[in-house]
Amino acid sequence: HNFIVAPPRIEDREVVKPLLCGPGPCDYWPSVEKALSKPVLSPICEELFKVLEDIRVGLQYAFQTRSKLVMATSGSGHSGMEAIISNLVGPGETLLIASRGIWDQRALMIATRYGIKTKVVSIPMDTTFSLAQLEPELKRIRPAGLFITHGDSSTGTLQSLEGLGDLCHKYGTLLLVDTVVSLGGVPFFMDEWGVDGVYTSTQKVFSGPAGISPVAFSARAEQKMNSRKHNPPFYLDAKQLALQWSCDGVTRTYHHTLSSPLLWALRACLQELVRETLPVSWARHAASTAHFHKRLREYSFEFLIPKPEDRLATVTTVKLPKGYDYRGFVKYMRENHNILIFAGLGPTVDKALRIGIMGVNSTTKVADAVADAMADTLRALKKSSL
Ligand code: GLV
Repeated sequence: HNFIVAPPRIEDREVVKPLLCGPGPCDYWPSVEKALSKPVLSPICEELFKVLEDIRVGLQYAFQTRSKLVMATSGSGHSGMEAIISNLVGPGETLLIASRGIWDQRALMIATRYGIKTKVVSIPMDTTFSLAQLEPELKRIRPAGLFITHGDSSTGTLQSLEGLGDLCHKYGTLLLVDTVVSLGGVPFFMDEWGVDGVYTSTQKVFSGPAGISPVAFSARAEQKMNSRKHNPPFYLDAKQLALQWSCDGVTRTYHHTLSSPLLWALRACLQELVRETLPVSWARHAASTAHFHKRLREYSFEFLIPKPEDRLATVTTVKLPKGYDYRGFVKYMRENHNILIFAGLGPTVDKALRIGIMGVNSTTKVADAVADAMADTLRALKKSSL
């Protein structure tokens, strides 16, 4: 045969692994690294369904829900976002979007693509919503869903959700929540807070690989899915996925081929979480971030988020003094300290550094290493910035 493309040279490539202290991805737990090389699970073998069951019960604990509709979509956090929106809100229905960062902008883009009508209620990106800010919009619009981000990695804010589910339900609205960078690191109670659709990620607090996204649906959400007139995308159809994930503990269905390494990895992340327990994990995140903030204050860094109660315990945002370049700062940290932190994203571009002290890296040792490296970088770049 006449091959029009010759075999290319693909050589071995080594990567010097930095300490991953951005808003994600985070480093892996050692147990997760091992889990990644466990045997391949074929789509209809009993071993697969045992692994799925382990993941489902682990996720019920992580989300604090008794709902049986817990599963994971095959894709990064965006697939979870796309799944809860497209399953719970149909074309022509309205999604109200509570906007303060980049993820709500993504929700807007996704909803628009599905022909969903969107309304946006915005606040300054360095603040969080009160129920009083949301109620008039819910009352006026009576949307099918409200989308809100719990922890926002673009701004470093934590949105309080207590009472929001009841408020949404009063107006016939389902509550859709992004917990990508918050779950496991700060308190979250799906059932108690009346959350109807929620997703998270594996590459943040869970300290695993990206590519599989836990999602959970409430009984209200299930009712909606049973009565909806629209078809969500086949790949993300939660009713189909629930059959594949054997949410009732009985079904044995093939929908698409799940990634064995990612299933094993997610299972290992959940084992870590249940071994540690939620309250201990939350306390560890609170303590290491409090320590990190204390160190940052000693070095005179200024926090982007003015109110301490709005600050997220997993991702910290800080402003640099005038004249400093955010990208240059990140580059210097990587090149001279082998620590990866991120510059701003969305509304925080050129306004903040984003530092993640979370998951396996949520320790005072890591917090000290990052704070010291940041202080050194501030000094080293001072001359060039003046
Ligand atoms: C990704 O999640 C980011 O916050 O950069």
